[in-house]
Amino acid sequence: MSSVTACSTRSAYPCALALFQQTISLRGYSGLVKIQPLATHRLPATRRPAVVPAAPQEPTDHYVVFGRESSEIPAAISDVVCPPQMKLGGFPSERWVVTPQIEAFHKQHVSTTPAEELLDGPDSELKTLIGPMLQARYTHTQGLTVAELGPSTSTTVAETLAHGSNRYIGVDLSEPLAEKQIEFLVAGGAEQFFNVKGDTYALPLQSNSCDLILTSCHPPFVSSTVEDRKLALDEVHRSLKPGGEFLLFPYNEKTQPPEFQAYLADRFAIVERRLSPLGSDRYAVVLQKRE
Ligand SMILES: C[S@@+](CC[C@H](N)C(=O)[O-])C[C@H]1O[C@@H](n2cnc3c(N)ncnc32)[C@H](O)[C@@H]1O
Repeated sequence: MSSVTACSTRSAYPCALALFQQTISLRGYSGLVKIQPLATHRLPATRRPAVVPAAPQEPTDHYVVFGRESSEIPAAISDVVCPPQMKLGGFPSERWVVTPQIEAFHKQHVSTTPAEELLDGPDSELKTLIGPMLQARYTHTQGLTVAELGPSTSTTVAETLAHGSNRYIGVDLSEPLAEKQIEFLVAGGAEQFFNVKGDTYALPLQSNSCDLILTSCHPPFVSSTVEDRKLALDEVHRSLKPGGEFLLFPYNEKTQPPEFQAYLADRFAIVERRLSPLGSDRYAVVLQKRE
């Protein structure tokens, strides 16, 4: 394992801790993606209430949700999300992943933590850095297909971009976190969002299908070996359309081994770089896919 270079944008976030408490070898794990559409929903855009209601509204548009035995993909994203049988992601090396034990921990965490603590706080880097970058760079464009890898319960990206003719696809390995994110997004009035259970090392996304992919404090990019980071980067590169963009946070060239810097530079051009208000050389970078 390489050294840990980042942590969550939210305070006291337990995910990283749980991940680091469990090292497991997953040679042979199939990594099969399981997805299922739920009901159909389209809510008027409203502001998120200060306190999210205990009994959330039932979704009325379609989502793809985690861990269910179904291979049906809603027509609205069938050009983006792969049928499960198309992804047979193996785990060629030891790495931190979301195990059933970690999911059980997440389930307890989301049921016992107040919504205010699960949502992106006003001082979080999602709100102070990534949200403004998205506003400046993408909100003037419509028709975007956006995938966020490992959103957990955060809502900033979807609330900024999942409107109009855009489509937002959250890809996360943890079902309890995704279900909580869906609850928040429904309450906040985001439209056109979908959630898929998927592994960043074997993304359930069609090749050349996304305009924008984002990650914030995502273990495959911040607490992985160089070889695993290359694999994750390859998956992002494969899933992006030609000229598509990858917003990666945090990323600091200075702390990356030259081998990874060169690997990245072969595949992407850095087109924007913003320093976090928290400083500490924590940059968000926008990487544009090279042909
Ligand atoms: C530290 S949280 C980051 C949450 C949020 N993006 C933020 O910045 O606050 C990491 C998230 O990545 C997910 N995750 C970890 N490994 C993953 C993998 N290989 N593929 C997909 N999601 C993964 C976890 O389930 C968790 O939701």
